[in-house]
Amino acid sequence: MCGIVGYIGPKNAYNVVLKGLQRLEYRGYDSAGVALYADDELKICKTKGKVSELVKKCEKENITSGHIGIGHTRWATHGEPNDVNSHPHVSNSGDLVIIHNGIIENYESLKKELTNRGYSFESDTDTEVLINLIEDVKKKENVKLGKAVQVALNQTIGAYAIAVFDRNKPNEIVVARLGSPLAIGVGEDEYFIASDASPFIEFTNKSIYLEDGEMAVVRLGRNIKVRKIKNDKLIEPYVQELQLSLDQIEKAGYEHFMLKEIYEQPEAIKDTYRGRMLPEKGLIRMAGIDDNIEKFLNARRIIVIACGTSWHAGLVSEYLFEDFARIPVEVEYASEFRYRNPIITEDDVVIAISQSGETADTMAAIKIAKEKGAFVFGVCNVVGSSISRETHAGAYTHAGPEIGVASTKAFTTQITILTLIALKLGKQKGEISNSQFHAYLNELDSIPEKIERTLQTNDAVIKVAEAYKKAKNCLYLGRGHNFPVALEGALKLKEISYIHAEGYPAAEMKHGPIALIDEMMPVVVIATKKGHYEKVVSNIQEIKSRKGKIIAVVTEGDTSVKQMADHILEVPDTFEEFTPLLTTIPLQLLSYHIAVMLGKNVDQPRNLAKSVTVE
Ligand code: F6R
Repeated sequence: MCGIVGYIGPKNAYNVVLKGLQRLEYRGYDSAGVALYADDELKICKTKGKVSELVKKCEKENITSGHIGIGHTRWATHGEPNDVNSHPHVSNSGDLVIIHNGIIENYESLKKELTNRGYSFESDTDTEVLINLIEDVKKKENVKLGKAVQVALNQTIGAYAIAVFDRNKPNEIVVARLGSPLAIGVGEDEYFIASDASPFIEFTNKSIYLEDGEMAVVRLGRNIKVRKIKNDKLIEPYVQELQLSLDQIEKAGYEHFMLKEIYEQPEAIKDTYRGRMLPEKGLIRMAGIDDNIEKFLNARRIIVIACGTSWHAGLVSEYLFEDFARIPVEVEYASEFRYRNPIITEDDVVIAISQSGETADTMAAIKIAKEKGAFVFGVCNVVGSSISRETHAGAYTHAGPEIGVASTKAFTTQITILTLIALKLGKQKGEISNSQFHAYLNELDSIPEKIERTLQTNDAVIKVAEAYKKAKNCLYLGRGHNFPVALEGALKLKEISYIHAEGYPAAEMKHGPIALIDEMMPVVVIATKKGHYEKVVSNIQEIKSRKGKIIAVVTEGDTSVKQMADHILEVPDTFEEFTPLLTTIPLQLLSYHIAVMLGKNVDQPRNLAKSVTVE
């Protein structure tokens, strides 16, 4: 949550910071602000609303230049999203300015102490408390900014990625992180600071990712010094060469990132299995699994931890691991897992799934699992993310940047990775024969082309969207491998179109939700040929006899369901285990088109953020 950007160097910091904030807006868009130092003056401009509002305000107030600057796009935690609560925040003297992504949990007691010492506060934020704490330390101990930041942070409890500068010393920015991501872009004679590399990738591909508990003084004309916040120990920074390109983070002619990302799925899935799956050799090789194969083969059970869409991918994997590898699986919401007293042993393998690799609940659950001795494997999309570093081993999904807040290609690539792992383990355990294994690999290799075909049904999806865009509620039903797809379809609809939707295992309908069905209720039923087809057909009849409107996702050429359904959306035939990779596609398109028709902000739905770094 929240995006932070900073710049120091010969360019106009205003341009770099504002463009960077636009790229980071997926992280939060309740308010935005910038602090610039120009003409011996610290200038601040901030506003409720999006970065576009900030641009207007800055231009109006003529705050459009500086050689040093920091900016923030906010997902509100403390205090309502208004101009005053927006970042940056300034210390009481007006000297120090800060941007902050995270939460200072003990801010109330710190605020009380500072108030007793004469400090006053304009906003309701924890961040304003932090900048005044830094100022207090700096004055009391008569130390430089870097030292003051370090001492102050040692008095805080919580999570942060911060950037601070002093208007009296406008040649350096002090940064620190704990729990929230922070990257430093290293240019020739300039430095960039950001929550991820997207704000600076067009200027440099060299980046230092601070680890949790590290801070750095970023000063012009000097190499970056990284230190441990706890004990001031100096650390040699690792400068990483990034593979990210500018094209990957732009819309490439699509109206929305979400649509671009839906259409990227065939390529993204190929990127996920490229080099790992070799159908002609009958081989799956994945370093993270190969190096730890005994742990997986001897696992008493696999526990999958994740949130949201990633949790749905985890649910799909439960069917895959049980079918292919005969390993018992439990799929847990990370947020519940971490606050229970889970029974975990050294014989458990924990798989943590996260697109962003920054989700706070998933991160906390990983730490608990590690403490209890489990082997933890990460499935992340963002390279170098916190979760990818915290886990013992892992596999990247290689889906490329996912900017639309509603997750699409991350979901299908997560399923692809988990399918590869389950197949590999099934083969090694002798649960899958050679010929079956070959057949699975060849079929998986055909999935990208089948997704292309599914995407061609877009016009049919638009008609369905037109028919149901005014619905107030919607049910999604699926069985077996497609039950999690029903959950995911419902989540997509509610998060971007704000239509209430629920996903259910189809057979559960008669235990309650059937009471909701009448002629006003659209019901999306996943009824592909394999698996539980006959049973789903019975469920469709039950809905029909109560006058519900049926939108059925069926296998190409299906005739029986066609006779009963009000609308059908076809997907190519495939093995039952791989159907989620296809049935998900029309559901993503459906929610996308309904949201567009309703005039909603598809890429940045209200109240949401791409990366949930608060608990
Ligand atoms: C839904 C969505 C969220 C995320 C969830 C976990 O479209 O994007 O439900 O899936 O916040 O995020 P990650 O995967 O980054 O841990």
